[in-house]
Amino acid sequence: MIPYKTEPLADFSNEENRQAYREALKKVQGELGKDYPLVIGGEKIFTEEKITSYNPAKKTEVVGTVSKASQELAEKAMQVADETFKTWSKVDAKVRADILFKVAEITKRRRHEMSAMMTIEAGKPWVEADADTAEAIDFFEYYARQMLSLKDGKPVESRPGEYNKFDYRALGVGVVISPWNFPFAIMAGTTVAAVVTGNTVLLKPASTTPVIAYKFMEILEEAGLPAGVVNYIPGSGAEVGDYLVDHPRTRFVSFTGSRDVGLRINERASVLNEGQIWIKRVIAEMGGKDTILVDKEADLELAAQSIVKSAFGFSGQKCSACSRAVIVEDVYDQVVERVTELTKALTIGDPTDPDNFMATVIDEAAFKKVTSYFEVAKEEGRIVAGGTADDSVGYFVNPTVVVDVAPKDRLMQEEIFGPIVAIAKAKDFDEALEIANNTVYGLTGAIISTNREHIERAREDFFVGNLYINRTCTGAIVGYQPFGGYNMSGTCSKAGGPDFLTLHMQPKTVSETF
Ligand code: NAD
Ligand code: ALA
Repeated sequence: MIPYKTEPLADFSNEENRQAYREALKKVQGELGKDYPLVIGGEKIFTEEKITSYNPAKKTEVVGTVSKASQELAEKAMQVADETFKTWSKVDAKVRADILFKVAEITKRRRHEMSAMMTIEAGKPWVEADADTAEAIDFFEYYARQMLSLKDGKPVESRPGEYNKFDYRALGVGVVISPWNFPFAIMAGTTVAAVVTGNTVLLKPASTTPVIAYKFMEILEEAGLPAGVVNYIPGSGAEVGDYLVDHPRTRFVSFTGSRDVGLRINERASVLNEGQIWIKRVIAEMGGKDTILVDKEADLELAAQSIVKSAFGFSGQKCSACSRAVIVEDVYDQVVERVTELTKALTIGDPTDPDNFMATVIDEAAFKKVTSYFEVAKEEGRIVAGGTADDSVGYFVNPTVVVDVAPKDRLMQEEIFGPIVAIAKAKDFDEALEIANNTVYGLTGAIISTNREHIERAREDFFVGNLYINRTCTGAIVGYQPFGGYNMSGTCSKAGGPDFLTLHMQPKTVSETF
């Protein structure tokens, strides 16, 4: 088998690729307003109640309407998934992996179409949307190979007259709840991790990005995934989400999203309900408040570039985004000046235009939340770039840099999830590291330094799941930088890593005496 390698990103300086993307945009724009059904046991079900998906860059443009699952339909999906588990869990792991390889191939064929859909449904600029699709392909390719390496279990010892075997079995029905910010990669990655390990899935995508998730369902069907293995049930988090998290037949929940919802799921899943015979497993990937630490001895241009790219890529709407920078005082003014300059030069506008680095935030609620921090910024620091927004056409928030913020201020502690970066000054490296660690989160972080001793200290003491040295704090690659965080950032699971699939299985020991 060809060894795993990450899928290369599209080169949009190549006119052929630009043309292909424009055509893909035309195709998905031709589908605007389409109505999409639920998919339960392969059956396409149209409901009266709908979720409407809007284009955040043209806020009245309807991307599509999607049927909305009620509790009754969620129950139907649970029964189908529970029944299908009996057969799917017995399908040879090689066959399950093969389906993922096919899913990868079909996605490669439809690559720009999937990305273009994210450009209009999530406001993802071309480069970001392409990276999202490439990451989804990586998940398919990587987890398929991981499953093949796990299918016979792991070696254990046997004594004379005894044969011991240790291997893995599927868990049961998994509820997969995904966010809108990686509407393809995370939604699909968490789904296929559950599927390739032999589980069946109830997939509840984010309500702002359900159409891209429907397109993924089409790919699964084309790849030959049997009906009922993945059931597509968009719906209200509070209504369908709670119902399924509480359900006694739910064996595990794979959640990616905010801290508050993650904690709620964790709490509810721990309650034993009537008829339940197991402890539910919760895999939760939650929020972040990620720091780039700039040391006195450092490449200052690299520092400024890393801060700006990590803070404002996809409008700061990444759990990995740099939402705070801590800079040692000797180089503070220089770095701040360059960050301000670079930020002011960023291009913002409709994401269908590839010349725009940044576009919108996801919806009206996000616009209101993010812009409400402008007032906080004025109280807690000084805005040196941005601080303005315009929602007349779409939800555009300009990249905003706030300097001289105190380490415990709200801007330095709360996950804003938009294009605002707070910058704090530290007197030396020790203090900078202390500030970097002073949040409840622990997802990503970066240190920009040429001081070997400081780099090694950060390696040990910078308390995050993903630490980057002399680069951005975003852009983890499947199979290269397994992704997931500490503390309130989640359950320390590592998506795209060698341990991730085992979280979806239960090991069994069989000891035969002869
Ligand atoms: P969110 O928590 O609002 O929603 C996530 C999902 O949970 C959605 O599908 C939503 O409908 C669902 N949901 C809401 N209430 C629910 C309930 N009571 N029961 C079950 N499901 C419910 O998050 P979001 O706004 O979609 O995404 C942004 C957040 O996700 C940020 O906090 C970001 O940091 C985090 N995130 C984390 C990672 C990671 O890997 N750690 C990756 C991406 C995003
Ligand atoms: N995997 C994404 C990143 O690292 C969240 O930016």
